[in-house]
Order: sequence, then C-alpha cells, then structure tokens
Amino acid sequence: MCGIVGAVSAKECTNFLLAGLTTLEYRGYDSAGLAVLNNGLQRARAKGRVAELASKVAKGDIQGQVGIAHTRWATHGVPAERNAHPHISEGLAVVHNGIIENYESLREQLQGLGYVFTSDTDTETIAHLIQACFKGQIGEPAENLFSAVQCAVAHLKGAFALAVISEEEPDCLVVAREGSPLMLGITDEGHYAASDASALVSVTQQMMHLENGDIARLTRDAVMLVDAQGQAVEREVVTSHLSANAVELGEYDHFMQKEIFEQPQALGNTLEMISGAGQLQPGIFGAEAAAIFEQVDSVLILACGTSSYAGLTAKYWIEQVASIPCNVEIASEYRYRQSVANPNQLVVVISQSGETADTLAALHHAKSLGHTHTLAICNVPESTIVRETALRFITRAGPEIGVASTKAFTTQLSALFLLTLLLAKTNQRLSKENEKIYLDELRHLPVAVERVLSLEPDIKAWSLQFANKHHALFLGRGRHFPIASEGALKLKEISYIHAEAYPAGELKHGPLALVDADMPVIVVAPNDELLEKLKANMQEVSARGGQLYVFADGDSAIRSTNGVNVLTMPEHYGLLSPVLHVVALQLLSYHVALVKGTDVDKPRNLAKSVTVE
Ligand code: AGP
Repeated sequence: MCGIVGAVSAKECTNFLLAGLTTLEYRGYDSAGLAVLNNGLQRARAKGRVAELASKVAKGDIQGQVGIAHTRWATHGVPAERNAHPHISEGLAVVHNGIIENYESLREQLQGLGYVFTSDTDTETIAHLIQACFKGQIGEPAENLFSAVQCAVAHLKGAFALAVISEEEPDCLVVAREGSPLMLGITDEGHYAASDASALVSVTQQMMHLENGDIARLTRDAVMLVDAQGQAVEREVVTSHLSANAVELGEYDHFMQKEIFEQPQALGNTLEMISGAGQLQPGIFGAEAAAIFEQVDSVLILACGTSSYAGLTAKYWIEQVASIPCNVEIASEYRYRQSVANPNQLVVVISQSGETADTLAALHHAKSLGHTHTLAICNVPESTIVRETALRFITRAGPEIGVASTKAFTTQLSALFLLTLLLAKTNQRLSKENEKIYLDELRHLPVAVERVLSLEPDIKAWSLQFANKHHALFLGRGRHFPIASEGALKLKEISYIHAEAYPAGELKHGPLALVDADMPVIVVAPNDELLEKLKANMQEVSARGGQLYVFADGDSAIRSTNGVNVLTMPEHYGLLSPVLHVVALQLLSYHVALVKGTDVDKPRNLAKSVTVE
C-alpha cells in the first residue's frame, strides 16, 4: 500500500527519495510524487510507475536537501496525478499513509475558511488543516511547523503516518504516526523517515521506530520527539538486520521467483532454534509461553488471505495432534462479529507484515473482549502486531517483496507446527518418541522443499496449457484443502485466472456443474487417509471431460492417462505434506502468470501490506 520516504540531509536528497520509492514499489501503488525545498517548494507527481516520476524530476531539475516522497494506492479518489501526493497548501507539503475518517467534515470546515481543494483525497485535508493551524484559523496561531502539526493531528480521526515540509522552515521535516508504521533513519549527515525499513537501508542500518501518537521534528543534526501526551520522549535506536541486497533481485527475474526459491533457506533460518534440540521448549514463543500454554483450553486463529490459510492448515494439526479445539476466523469478519470470549483461549494472530489493518483490529477486538493470551506469528520483528501480543514467534523468511506471499506462508506453517507440538506436549498428548520424529521431520523440511523445487521444468511445461484458460478449480481434502485454497488464491492473484478451491467431497454439491473440457482441475493428492475418497472425486471430474492436473505422492498410485496429468512429489511427508504441496502450487501460479504476461510482483489492484480497512 502507500509508501512514505523523507529526508533532511547535508546532501542532495532527490536520488535517495526516488530510490526509496523504488524500494517501496513492491507494496503496490498507482501513482507517485515528491516535493523538495530549494528556495521554495518544488513538486513533481506522476500517475503510474516511479520511473515516470523519475523522468519528470530529471526534466524539471528538481533538487534539494530536504524532501518528502510518496507512492499512492488509491482509496479516496481515482489514480490520477491530481490525487497523487504530496498535497500542498501554500508552501507546505504533506504525504500521508492511512485513512482520515473525519475528512469530509474537516474539508467542509476548511472550505468555509476559504481553502480550495484540487484533489479528491483525504490527504489534502491534512495539508490545509496544518496550514489553518499555522495561521491560527483553527486553534491558537502555531509557533512553528511542529506545533502546527501537533494541532492538526489533534483534529484527525483515523490511521495515519505523515511527513510534512514547509517553506516557512526550510531546514526541517516533521513526521507523525498514529496507526500506520513510520520509522526514522539516523546518520551523522542527516535524518531520514520511511514507512518501511527497506527504504532506509541504502543510507543506514540505525533506525528508530515511532510509537502511535509520536510526533517528531527532524533536522540535519537532531531529532526532537514527543509522545501522544506531548511529553518529550526518546525512542531506542536499533540496528536493523535488513541488508540492502535482501531487497534486490540478484540473479532472478521476479521477487516471487526469488522468494519461492529462498524457501529452503527461509525454513532453515526459521527452524534454526531446533537445529540441535532433542526436545522442544515453550520459550521459543516467549518467556511467558510455558505458563500461558498451561492455561490454554482452545485456540482462536485470526488472519487474512494467505496467512488465514496457514491458520486453517494448523487447525487440522492442532485438533489432531494436540486434541485442542481450534477455530480460524477471517480477521475482517471477526472484528465485527459478536463472539463469545473465553479467557482460556489462545488467540493467535498470523501476519507476514504485522501491519495488516484488519488483523490488527481483530487483535484489538479480542483484547477488548478480555483475551489476554495472545500470540503473534509474524515475519517483521518491529511490526505493530508483534509489539501488541503477550507471546510472539518471528518467522525468519527475510523481506518478502512480491505481493504474492510464498516464503512467509511456508515459514508460518513451520511455526504453527512447532506451536502444535508444544500445545500437544503441554496437553500430555505427545510422546517423547513422536516429539523426536516430528522434530526430525521439521529439520529435514528445507531439503524436502529443495526437492520440490526441482519439479520446476515439469510444472513450467504444464503452465503452457493454461495460456487460454479463464477459470480453474483446485481440489484438496483434509489438511490439504487449505493448501488447495492457497493455490487458488495464488493463481487468481497473479495470473488473473478465476480460481476456486473446494474440498473435493463438495464437488458434487454444486461445482461439478462447471466442469467441462475447458476447466482445468488441479488436485492436491498426497497419499493420506483420504486418498481413496479423493480418487473417487477425480473420477467424477474425468467422467465429465474435465482436465486433471494432479500433484500426487509417489505411492499414491495415480498414473497419467488421457485427461489426467500427474506430477509425482519427491517425498511423502505425512502431517507436514502441506508445506511441500504448496510449493508446487506456487511454482504453477508463477509460471502461468509468466505465460499470461502479467505483472507477477505487482499484480493489478493489489498491495503488499494492506494497512487500510
Ligand atoms: C497473499 O498472496 C496475499 N497478497 C494476501 O492475501 C496476504 O496474505 C494478506 O493480505 C495478509 O497479509 P499479512 O500476512 O501481511 O497480514
């Protein structure tokens, strides 16, 4: 979603701003813009890609040492140059992530004061509001830009991260955070701000994460920071472990491809803490995990999209292995549903980014209902969700740039399997012998995934047969139904083929009507307790002329025949088989998207981190 970059530096900053925006492109956006101070405010904006903005900047010779920049993902107003940020109010420029909920009433009030709006955005309201505060048209006249921003923020409802510059104070940048992430980069030659650490690593690893309610004034030499109560505070400067090349493509054509192939490494890193362990310790989920797990009588998983499919897979594991009831709810539904809270329930929020607005709001809702046993499974250690739960497990997938989640999903699954084993152990459901077997299987997972990746040439050959398809069905049963769902999500997200997943037994209750020679049916067919039932479901498809694409285990005894295409998975992997099967489905989606010629890493209309409702 939207991205912010800002700088107040001893050096010319336009290149840094443009490079930062390029790094943030993965979040998804439809227009971009920047403004710098150099004997007055200079602004450039463009609909479309950052490259278009860069060519405008080059033509206009826009340069300065203080500036702000933005990639916009349209919420209020269509993607258009006039709606792109920065928005200006008489020499003052603002970029903004998030949504201002009371912007309509503020807009009316500001129009009443004579302010003229040139966009449809909620952000332009903020620019004029700060200006009105500056001039004392709202509240007392502000002493400086910082106090004008403080005054304006007090009138805003919603979630936001802001960066503001003004001709009145050409040597400073003011930033504010409420709900949307914002961090500062600290160097000897200047200070920087960004909504995502990846935009800062080109200049520094030293970062300061702002808390909700924080407002900061950045100059070349100093950071002055106040909290939500207006009290001066200091926030810790932490060293980011993100390296600049972690967000570069290297030898790959796409980030999605890179991230699919990084999965053995990502799983190895995530599972490093059990590499030499003979048995599992609850401490891997946090210091209080042992005490909390003792009290847990059920699990509630809250997540969105791919992360919710990780949760649905875990439901099968947790109920089967730990004998504990587990519910999975889509975060955006749970937050508005009247549910019955159980204080002994473990609430697990799963999120790659840790900033997904719906998941965060669902966590807040659960806490408001009295849930205290909360656990985050997340890929970003500094994220908001991680900071708001009692327990946490950080997956170590590394930055995931492609909009389509891949390595985050498989590392989430590995974390959820560890959780399953610990709950089972606490619940006296795990023998020492089984604990050792499962730990060995987890340790072998990176190698097993590596072997699935070697199927790529065969999967690529299959993908050619999807070139003219508009629909696809995915079938799975048991713990592989969520994997079929994830496969369908991947395919629709990046190839724009309409794809649906069904538990295979459900076919005859409706979707079978869709099956004909034009309908590819992708089947996840491990050799598990439901295989024979699944084979019967496949017969139902074949009998209607449907084309089957089956990912089968070697011992599933399914052979390729007319209308039945079979790829043999390298290993039969029992309970952890979902981790292997999903990798094959990721490769299929990736290659189908290449055949379709879509923008694999930045599919239309989507954003990487969904920070608005
Ligand atoms: C995955 O391919 C999607 N882009 C999307 O469903 C994503 O998983 C969802 O938005 C949740 O994101 P999160 O894990 O960062 O919370």
